Amino acid sequence: MKFFIDTANLDEIREAYDLGVLDGVTTNPSLMAKEGISGHDKVMAHYKAICDIVDDNVSAEVIATDFEGMMKEGRELAKIDDKIVVKIPMIKDGVKAIKAFTEEGIRTNCTLVFSAGQALLAAKAGSSYVSPFIGRLDDIGADGLELIEQIVQIYDNYGFATEVLAASVRHTTHLLQCAEIGADVVTCPLKVITGLLKHPLTDAGLAQFLADHAKANG
Ligand code: G3P
Repeated sequence: MKFFIDTANLDEIREAYDLGVLDGVTTNPSLMAKEGISGHDKVMAHYKAICDIVDDNVSAEVIATDFEGMMKEGRELAKIDDKIVVKIPMIKDGVKAIKAFTEEGIRTNCTLVFSAGQALLAAKAGSSYVSPFIGRLDDIGADGLELIEQIVQIYDNYGFATEVLAASVRHTTHLLQCAEIGADVVTCPLKVITGLLKHPLTDAGLAQFLADHAKANG
């Protein structure tokens, strides 16, 4: 299972990478804006800075919503670094763009996926990753994890190479449930990854070991 961090914050990316368990980064226009990154050159430089931290898999999202615009932006993003995966929204022109990028050998991540039908289309077009947003489905009273299960089953039935990238993962339970279901990748904030570390019995046990060691060693 791959762990991606869902942020454009360089410190958080470094911290997750230094932990030794990070396989990639996903960004989106909202996350870039949150870091105050705006303007073409600054955006491109920021993607390059992210690529310089991690080993692979940096999702960079296009802003255009028409086929030609997405192709132009995506090709420019892909030129930044071999680690770039072009993130394309699940819309009609997006499906066409995914197909075209696949034929050009450029990796894609199909984003804003909320149904199994959309995920099936993304796989048919050859997307490298599909990003179902589980937290946002939960927010409206639907079941995000059920969607992950459905997509994993459909992809398994036909041997699609597209990797299921569970996105909008909000807490460690989400992450573990995705792992049980067999999602290929999760992308989440840093606190969800570091949340996996925590258990009160670990803290209490360590405190006891250290206290006993101190007593025995004066
Ligand atoms: O990867 C998609 C993610 O950024 C959306 O997460 O928490 O805004 O729904 P969220």
